[in-house]
Formats: sequence, C-alpha cells, structure tokens
Amino acid sequence: MKVFPKLFSFSPVVAAAIVFATAAYSPPTAASPGPGDHASRAGIVPMGKPVKIKAPLGLPPVPIPPDNPPTEETIALGRRLYYDPGLSVDGTVSCATCHAPNLGFRDGKALSNGVGGQLGTRRAPTVVNAAYNTLQFWDGRSPSLEKQAEGPMANPVEMGHTLEGVVKFVQSDPTYRQLFRKAWGAEQITIDLVTKSIASFERTVVIGNSPFDRFYY
Ligand code: HEC
Repeated sequence: MKVFPKLFSFSPVVAAAIVFATAAYSPPTAASPGPGDHASRAGIVPMGKPVKIKAPLGLPPVPIPPDNPPTEETIALGRRLYYDPGLSVDGTVSCATCHAPNLGFRDGKALSNGVGGQLGTRRAPTVVNAAYNTLQFWDGRSPSLEKQAEGPMANPVEMGHTLEGVVKFVQSDPTYRQLFRKAWGAEQITIDLVTKSIASFERTVVIGNSPFDRFYY
C-alpha cells in the first residue's frame, strides 16, 4: 500500500484498479497476455532502441507490453498522431481536442464535443497516468492503451471515422509514410501500428512528484 500513496488517495475503486493493473502487468502475465489483448496479436516490434520511460517519483515503473517497447521514433510518431485532427472524419478533432495538455489532458467540459460539435455521453477522463490502467474507459471495456485508441477514432460522436479511413489518411501522407518506415520498418501502415505509436506516446504522459510525494519519499 505504501507504494502509491498519491493514487490511493483518490478512492478505493481507483486503488483497487491500480493494484489489479499492477498485478496484471507483472512479468509472467505480461509475457502471456489474455485473449483480446493487443499484445497477443502477432505484432511488428519497433525498429529502434527501446527508451526507458522514467517513472515519476511516487509511481512504480510504467508497464510496457512486450511487443511495444517505446522508442524515440514511435513516441514522436505517436505524439504527431495524437495531435493530428486528420485522424477524424472531417479533419476537426484530434485526441488532444478532448485530452488537452493545457487542461490536464482533459477538455474541462462535463461532456466532450466530437466531430460536428456532437456531444458525447461521458466526461473525458485525463490521459495522464493512463499508462498505469489495464482497464481503460470508465466501464473498463478496453484491455490496453493500444486497443483503447481505436475506440475514439471509430466512435461516431468522437472522431467519427473508420479504422480503414484513418489508415488511408495516414498512408496517403508522405511524411507519415517516412515516419512509419523509420519507426516500424513498415511500408504498409496498419491500424495496429497507428495505435501502438499513440500508446507509446501516452506512456510518456505520466506525472507524479506531487508535493505529497516529495514529502513522503
Ligand atoms: C470527442 C472527445 C474525445 C476524443 C476525440 C478522444 N477521446 Fe479519449 N475519451 C473521451 C471520453 C468521453 C472518454 C471516457 C469514455 C468512456 O469511459 O467510455 C475517453 C477515454 C479515454 C481514455 C481512457 C482513460 C481512462 O482513465 O480510462 C484514454 C486513454 C483516451 N480516451 C485516449 C484517447 C486517444 C488516444 C484519443 C485519440 C485517438 C482519444 N482519446 C480521443 C473523449 C475523447
């Protein structure tokens, strides 16, 4: 319990989720992910040298799936994708629209606006420290950050696109083609590579070192 005092101060439910998440990401489980987990799909692994994501003071090491060790190239590519409204059907909404860095990676609204100003049905949670959740979304229906990232792209009231449409958009851009080649060695861009890149960027969005952590450690 002493390991995450800051997180445990949220609520018992969050605390339980984190204990579960941490347990689920212990090496034996991570090496044999369950059915439906993205990590279990035969996957291309990044070309570059894995970079170590420094866990902030007060937080355990960031859990990394075996088939998606973050590299400088995949993180940079993921950042570009995260901020790119081109991933939405009408080119107006990016991940950052609802999870904005200047608003604590949320949108500061009760309900989020997606394409065409449509209102969603839930409040956008922060992406900060989402790397520590195994169960993404409020109802825990997504098993990994990789899998989670598909949701908003294909959600009609969020980015309103199709996964095929997103791949087509990315594949049609010469800069993206070059970045995917450098990051993944891939000529053919797939939705898996798009979401794995975004997830690697998200794994860098971890914040700890609160005044409490500084006092406690
Ligand atoms: C239109 C607003 C909107 C857009 C665009 C959007 N999100 Fe979200 N996001 C939400 C909402 C609302 C939820 C909560 C949904 C739920 O619980 O069902 C959420 C949940 C999440 C979560 C889960 C966080 C947690 O603590 O459970 C992550 C991670 C996330 N989004 C990342 C992304 C990424 C990556 C993109 C871009 C590919 C994206 N979001 C685009 C509104 C948005």
